Amino acid sequence: MSKILHRDLKTTPIIIESSSGNYLYAKHPTNPDTPQQQLFDAIGGAAVISVGHNNDEVNQAVIDQLQKVAYIHSGTFTTSISEELATELLENYKSEKLAKVYFANSGSEANEAAIKLVMQYWYESGKGAKCHFISRKQSYHGNCLGGMSLSGHVARRKPYESLIDSSKFHHVSPCFEFRYKKSGQSSAEYVEGLLDELEEEILEIGPENVAAFFAETVVGATTGCVTAAKGYFKGVREICDKYDILLVLDEVMCGSGRTGTFFAWEQEGIVPDITTCGKAISSGASPLSCVVLTEKVLKGLTNGSNQFNCGHTYQSFALSCAAGKAVQKIVKRDGLLQNVTDVGEYLGQQLHDKVLSVFDIVIDVRGRGLFWAIEFGKSKTTNEPFDESDNVASKITDICMNHGVSIYPCKGTVDGFKGDHVIIAPSFTVTKQDIDLIVDAVVKSIQEFIDIVA
Ligand SMILES: Cc1ncc(COP(=O)(O)O)c(C=O)c1O
Repeated sequence: MSKILHRDLKTTPIIIESSSGNYLYAKHPTNPDTPQQQLFDAIGGAAVISVGHNNDEVNQAVIDQLQKVAYIHSGTFTTSISEELATELLENYKSEKLAKVYFANSGSEANEAAIKLVMQYWYESGKGAKCHFISRKQSYHGNCLGGMSLSGHVARRKPYESLIDSSKFHHVSPCFEFRYKKSGQSSAEYVEGLLDELEEEILEIGPENVAAFFAETVVGATTGCVTAAKGYFKGVREICDKYDILLVLDEVMCGSGRTGTFFAWEQEGIVPDITTCGKAISSGASPLSCVVLTEKVLKGLTNGSNQFNCGHTYQSFALSCAAGKAVQKIVKRDGLLQNVTDVGEYLGQQLHDKVLSVFDIVIDVRGRGLFWAIEFGKSKTTNEPFDESDNVASKITDICMNHGVSIYPCKGTVDGFKGDHVIIAPSFTVTKQDIDLIVDAVVKSIQEFIDIVA
């Protein structure tokens, strides 16, 4: 039995011995003489892999950096590689508005740093009363306590609820048309209702007390690749401007190119004050996340203490920055964002034609770029979720694994407890043939699940 405190204490996860491109090679759990099982990684861990597993160029960049300098303390020193990557990331969106990048290691760290940046911005601006945060129900912003307080995912928060200061962290409805738009309501009316709710929440707390609104531009694991209704983020931006509130978009899962533009917000026609990124930015070669801030936020600090009080030992870690820089080089040189858009469109079409239109238990498919979810329910006529104990998403994922394809199961789609979906988010390098292989395995798995249950 493993000595690691794994997520599920009852089982040891499958051991992966090696990886290459789209494939993971798994060791047989009991018989080492059995050939390794080859698994197509259609989820890249959790939407992490962007230029394939074990990419030679990325590996070489990390090795080269390791042979120059791996670690420095960012309080005293910096490295050329981290400076170069910061410049390159800001150039992804050609606007004077983006000013600086802060590098951390995980999405959770990036969101904690974003919370601190918001707090420091208001403190330095002489508006220290602004210390209330509004985020959305059915959201996830990380596993550290700040991010967990922002997160509206009730099941994940539950054990820590007594530590969360709910007088400072407020949650409004998510923008989730499929589940929450009333019948007969237009998209525009639905958005108007959500914006009214946000404005009412701000007025109730008092705009002089509200520091920031946090949201995932495209919602990730909690509700499954949910894009916002048209006009929602423009409306949110206007409200934040009206009441002098910072807008922070969490793009840890949906950003760094996953939806076809480096920042997912580019497709919403707005620029947030702060963005957090992670996952795909370094394709899993070394942990990297970042916080990107605008000129306005930077000025808040430079007009004050001229410091950002959020040091980490492994901040701006050179090896991770080397991985990130190599990934960005490949993404640009090989036109991978265009591939994400083109092949992503094909994936969406295939899921509509071969999955949504075929199975009654598939009640929705949705997504953007290479970030798609399939939601399951008892039937299309009611959209009623399966019972929690049925573990539908997990069972379908397990069957899919037997068909040689790894996808990502999620629970709680409807309200944090009920509802099932799976996510497909392969490497930006996938081809249409790869998509055919993924969709074929998914179709077989859903059919097999139906055959077993029926
Ligand atoms: C939207 C979002 N924010 C934050 C996080 C936390 O990132 P990490 O697990 O790298 O700490 C995640 C992780 O899945 C995420 O999806």
